[in-house]
Amino acid sequence: MEISATLVLVLLALFTFLQNVANGFDSWPHTNTINPFKYRVPENPPYRTSYHFQPPQNWMNDPNGPMYYKGVYHLFYQHNPSAATFGDGIVWGHSVSYDLINWIHLNNAIEPSEAYDIISCWSGSATILLDGKPVIMYTGIDHNRHQVQNLAMPKNLSDPFLREWVKHTQNPVIIPSEVAEVDNFRDPSTAWHGKDGKWRIIIGAQKGDQGRAILYQSEDFVNWKLEDANPFYATDNTGVCECPDFYPVSINGTNGVDSSVESSSVRHVAKVGYLRMAHDYYFVGKYLSDEERFIADAKFTGTSLDLRYDYGKFYASKSFFDYAKNRRILWGWVNESDSEKDDIDKGWAGVQSIPRQVWLDNKSGNRLVQWPIEEVEKLRSKNISINGEKLGGGSILEVSGITASQADIEVLFEIPELENAESFDLSGVDPQLLCSNAPRSGIIGPFGLLALASKDLREHTAISFRVYKTSNKYVGLMCSDQSRSSLQNGLDKTTYGTFFDVDSNPRTISLRSLIDHSIIESFGEGGRVCMSSRVYPKLATGNEAHLYVFNNGTMSILISKLNAWCMKEAEIGHVKNMSYKTC
Ligand SMILES: *[C@@H]1O[C@H](CO)[C@@H](O)[C@H](O)[C@H]1NC(C)=O
Ligand SMILES: *[C@@H]1O[C@H](CO)[C@@H](O)[C@H](O)[C@H]1NC(C)=O
Ligand SMILES: *[C@@H]1O[C@H](CO)[C@@H](O)[C@H](O)[C@H]1NC(C)=O
Ligand SMILES: *[C@@H]1O[C@H](CO)[C@@H](O)[C@H](O)[C@H]1NC(C)=O
Ligand SMILES: *[C@@H]1O[C@H](CO)[C@@H](O)[C@H](O)[C@H]1NC(C)=O
Ligand SMILES: *[C@@H]1O[C@H](CO)[C@@H](O)[C@H](O)[C@H]1NC(C)=O
Ligand SMILES: *[C@@H]1O[C@H](CO)[C@@H](O)[C@H](O)[C@H]1NC(C)=O
Repeated sequence: MEISATLVLVLLALFTFLQNVANGFDSWPHTNTINPFKYRVPENPPYRTSYHFQPPQNWMNDPNGPMYYKGVYHLFYQHNPSAATFGDGIVWGHSVSYDLINWIHLNNAIEPSEAYDIISCWSGSATILLDGKPVIMYTGIDHNRHQVQNLAMPKNLSDPFLREWVKHTQNPVIIPSEVAEVDNFRDPSTAWHGKDGKWRIIIGAQKGDQGRAILYQSEDFVNWKLEDANPFYATDNTGVCECPDFYPVSINGTNGVDSSVESSSVRHVAKVGYLRMAHDYYFVGKYLSDEERFIADAKFTGTSLDLRYDYGKFYASKSFFDYAKNRRILWGWVNESDSEKDDIDKGWAGVQSIPRQVWLDNKSGNRLVQWPIEEVEKLRSKNISINGEKLGGGSILEVSGITASQADIEVLFEIPELENAESFDLSGVDPQLLCSNAPRSGIIGPFGLLALASKDLREHTAISFRVYKTSNKYVGLMCSDQSRSSLQNGLDKTTYGTFFDVDSNPRTISLRSLIDHSIIESFGEGGRVCMSSRVYPKLATGNEAHLYVFNNGTMSILISKLNAWCMKEAEIGHVKNMSYKTC
């Protein structure tokens, strides 16, 4: 008995060794969570993402200064190089890419070194100047812990990776004045260039209980003036306006436009992250450049009527105009839902969303559409399809044959019995609360996906829809329910939700979900409503994760079309030639 057991062990070890040889030993230091032939090692925290951007280790928050320069995309990010938690000593991490999906990590671009940024180098933006040279403006936390704005320029403009950055001798170029509190004055936006030849930026701030975005002007990008003490944008009781963004969107199509474009064929978007709510809100409106005013279509109400980029986790986002493909791209920080101790144990915290192309919805004219950039589709591998399958009330169907922990799913649901929708007065109803409190079955819906589900369904994240009838239209409720996402305790399992209008012609609702081990990014109605969540299943990891379509309504629905793809691993930080094993 004993001899045969030993023999089995020896043979197993030999087999493992030979498989390693066949696969090539992994010499790159950051791939040690990847099991070369089984995908993810469950004992090894299985939550690292395979195609969502992460630094090699430690803490990451806001995306900074995204830009396209000489054929290369740059992403900088807020990074604590010495811990998996936030703290002093924040630097600008730096990675470059040719396609916004595969990334090479470079040395930190900006680190604390001078009195004006000695505590930390906080968020900021890149601007491409008229002569094509990029410049970064970032917030330094100075030796008094005041927040000041600084410039950094590339050392070698011929280096497409822009590896080294030099701080300007006149730093700090902007210090807080009476319009902002000294410790609430940060996150300069990308600049836009006015018809009068002056550059403009907005800076996030707080004064008293007012969150503000404050406009500064400059002729040379070095000397900045506060032209008007009235904030460019302000709201009461929101805390600091963080990471303000301001850009034009075309009224005729999905193409993006440069930040400086002013014409009758664009509208403008102002985005602010309210610290108190920890969400990014956006406002579509009219930019009156002569008066230096932005008139939003709707004011902030503090209710579910306000428009958000994402109704789950997505904060401190930043957009840039991609000259190469004439599109505007949006990045957002998706933070963890586990505890600080979990993050320390994992050795990392924070992921970036998949870059999203953003444009004005021509259906409504007053809200945005976001869609994962087309490049992510290069990672699509083995697929399965379902076409025209009826899903009766109370039924569930497994979407099998793909790696459900690393997948891209697009589904179009048809609702033949739309007119049977439950009548419901939605005025004053908070959709997020409705998502957590509504019964688990209804008339039309909930139906949708169960993502990162265990075989026994004890773990699953339900991304679902319900349809209600109000006096004059059909209203959809989209939910992402994390309450059963993990058997593990001590996680933030808040359920997210939002309303949207449902067309009665065609009577369909679409959903796309990008699943990547511990993140699910969902795009409802072609990207009109987005919802990202972070989940940490105990059972539904690696090859043990399952994907289902379900219908808990009493009315049947139709899976008009479903395509699900196994996603290959992106090369993030790996400079070697990887071969993919999963799909
Ligand atoms: C600048 O970058 C280019 C391209 O990478 C390189 O050939 C050149 O040697 C660099 N110049 C300096 C001074 O480092
Ligand atoms: C919108 O379309 C018009 C004419 O079709 C064109 O002249 C204009 O440049 C377009 N605007 C943008 C921002 O694409
Ligand atoms: C709205 O935009 C979509 C996508 O660009 C396009 O297919 C559609 O024709 C447009 N509809 C109208 C009414 O302009
Ligand atoms: C980060 O995650 C925690 C826990 O889920 C949440 O309470 C907080 O609002 C999040 N912050 C941001 C900026 O997303
Ligand atoms: C699914 O994969 C097959 C090959 O296996 C391919 O012919 C087909 O185009 C793919 N479908 C989609 C929607 O990508
Ligand atoms: C569907 O309904 C069943 C029976 O009421 C319930 O056990 C299950 O949790 C529901 N599923 C979802 C995703 O709500
Ligand atoms: C990468 O590896 C694959 C297979 O292992 C090989 O076919 C391909 O030529 C390699 N590419 C490069 C750039 O080395």
